[in-house]
Amino acid sequence: MISLTEVQPSGTDLVSQVEEIFSPTGILSRAKNFEFRPQQQEMAVAVARALAKQEHLAVEAGTGVGKSLAYLIPSILFAVQQKKKAIVSTHTINLQEQLTEKDLPMLTGVFAALAEPVKFSYAMLKGRANYLCTRRLQKAMQQSGNLFTSSEAEELQRIYEWSKETKDGSLSDFEIEPDGKVWAQVCSERGLCSPKTCGHQSDFARDHDACFFQRVRNRILSADVVILNHTLFFTLLGGVDEEMEGGILFKNDFVIFDEAHTMESVASRHIGLSVSSGQVRFSLNRLWNPRTEKGLLATLRQGPAVKMVAEILSESDKFLRTLKAPARRSRRPRGRNLAAVKAVLPGGASGRNCVSAAPNS
Ligand SMILES: Nc1ncnc2c1ncn2[C@@H]1O[C@H](COP(=O)(O)OP(=O)(O)OP(=O)(O)O)[C@@H](O)[C@H]1O
Ligand code: SF4
Ligand SMILES: [Mg+2]
Repeated sequence: MISLTEVQPSGTDLVSQVEEIFSPTGILSRAKNFEFRPQQQEMAVAVARALAKQEHLAVEAGTGVGKSLAYLIPSILFAVQQKKKAIVSTHTINLQEQLTEKDLPMLTGVFAALAEPVKFSYAMLKGRANYLCTRRLQKAMQQSGNLFTSSEAEELQRIYEWSKETKDGSLSDFEIEPDGKVWAQVCSERGLCSPKTCGHQSDFARDHDACFFQRVRNRILSADVVILNHTLFFTLLGGVDEEMEGGILFKNDFVIFDEAHTMESVASRHIGLSVSSGQVRFSLNRLWNPRTEKGLLATLRQGPAVKMVAEILSESDKFLRTLKAPARRSRRPRGRNLAAVKAVLPGGASGRNCVSAAPNS
């Protein structure tokens, strides 16, 4: 559940502070509807102790114990005291919303009322592709005739109108999500995002406010608590520089996984490499789509390259078809995998239990 890399002080202060906060007369007891829950206090103390001692901890506790507060409170105190960043990874968007819209705002008030008030900041981290890239939007508007069919061009216009009103420039701020193909041409993309072209000194930056993605990025870098989902966590983990010292995703961070029973499957999906015929086709069609006769190559007027893309499309289909049959044959029957799981869990635990040796939300 928690991973730390630097030596910490013994942490008795943190442990007793957390025990006191969850006690029947602690500061939390002044919050509306609070009830003293011994299991919650026990879990919070265990989390505080693990943080202070740099130990990993896995907790399984019944539903409704109040596990979120039991890890949030020690994590926030520890992050602020030690100038670290707490990463909280969840499986569902519902839990992320509960944390950012209910639990963390409530804790902001609770911590402000402490004898020595504690101030902290938090932010939700979404994948880069969730954010509009204003520079790509500007380019796409200029090249719309070559890139898009007429209905896609209308969709682009809708995104442009939305871009003038949106609060955070992210997909979740749309009432009706835009067409995926058009969005893919205007969302922030790693390889295309360069401080040289959009940084403070650039012509683009003089005419535009800081872009949506850079704004959220700055908030994340300075936040004490960052909320994200398992998918993004493992995607980012796959791209992290292994040499990075003192942190996992960010310098000096530590990680809490809630809804940890899904971690194993999410991790295997996102740390492993995969490629599908659909992905290959999608990427090639961004260059040139023989059916609609649109694509980036049309804007560059590259005749020979267009021909090559058409050939690669057909060859890649053939190649992936030849891989399919041996891949199917090498798949092991499911039953054998399940038996192996049971053999290492003498109690004959179900598959779900065996991966939820952590907060079971
Ligand atoms: N000590 C408490 N007194 C009253 N309400 C609490 C207390 N602790 C947490 N809550 C509230 O109880 C609700 C459930 O808390 P939480 O989501 O953390 O539970 P959980 O143990 O994670 O449950 P689940 O397993 O269903 O995810 C939340 O709305 C939270 O604000
Ligand atoms: S900094 Fe990146 S995301 Fe922002 S406008 Fe520039 S290219 Fe787009
Ligand atoms: Mg929960």
